[in-house]
Amino acid sequence: MQTVTRLDMLRNAVEALRTDGSTLALVPTMGALHEGHLTLVREAKQRTDHVAVSIFVNPTQFGPNEDLAAYPRQLAEDSALLEAEGVALLWAPTVEAMYPAGFASSISVAGVSEGFCGASRPGHFDGVATVVCKLFNQVRPDIACFGEKDWQQLAVIRRMARDLDLVAPAAGAIVGVPTVREADGLAMSSRNRYLSPTQRRQATVLPSAMRKAVAELEAGEDAADATEALEAALLAGGFDSVDYAALADAASLASLDRLGDSPARLLVAARIGGTRLIDNMAVG
Ligand code: PAF
Repeated sequence: MQTVTRLDMLRNAVEALRTDGSTLALVPTMGALHEGHLTLVREAKQRTDHVAVSIFVNPTQFGPNEDLAAYPRQLAEDSALLEAEGVALLWAPTVEAMYPAGFASSISVAGVSEGFCGASRPGHFDGVATVVCKLFNQVRPDIACFGEKDWQQLAVIRRMARDLDLVAPAAGAIVGVPTVREADGLAMSSRNRYLSPTQRRQATVLPSAMRKAVAELEAGEDAADATEALEAALLAGGFDSVDYAALADAASLASLDRLGDSPARLLVAARIGGTRLIDNMAVG
């Protein structure tokens, strides 16, 4: 595996991988890799000849009171994991390489990025859309793989790719990979490591209460009733607050009063101690 930290090195490395017409996938990450990320890498490997992974803790997607400084950085450990998965290229730019002096552009995806995490994390999806667009243009992959765990992020990136007529990858080549869960159902996340053993046990109420709400919604219950019961279960189970619990159209993320004919998603963000967990499940 080749590790590159500068754009000129990246261009040469990508060109070398592409000389024989090989296909290339990109898996964008912020590092602190876990089984969920490795599942994205494996999915990418199934679909293309070579896989490039980016590791960049993107400052522009963190709010002023968020965990940018505390976000785990473990490049040596991550690099060993990727090497073992047969990744061809690791793109690990510095902040200065990604945002050189004078950097002044931003991509804002209206609508889909405004509710849910967009409402509680102002500016977050502008930061995500801008860095992902840059990563796409830097690596120019045939496909890119993202986890469905960050469902709103995936919807924002797909919308951006469609709206801006991106070609490498095109919107249709943005692959969503199903969420990987721990044996007790908790979605894997780099933030799970912040949970104390007690909080970690309590956190399992999130997937179990969500599964119950999904069943209720699929049985025709109003979204307001099902999500109210879900919120009550989370608070009773040890969560301190619920940012949102809602039923939404899977693509536009418009809120729904009840399940209709098009694919829908149950989306939740809730806080336990200082840790904010998000999860989502298909409904219908
Ligand atoms: O999901 C993430 O890890 C990040 O939001 C991403 C897509 C790598 C952009 O920084």
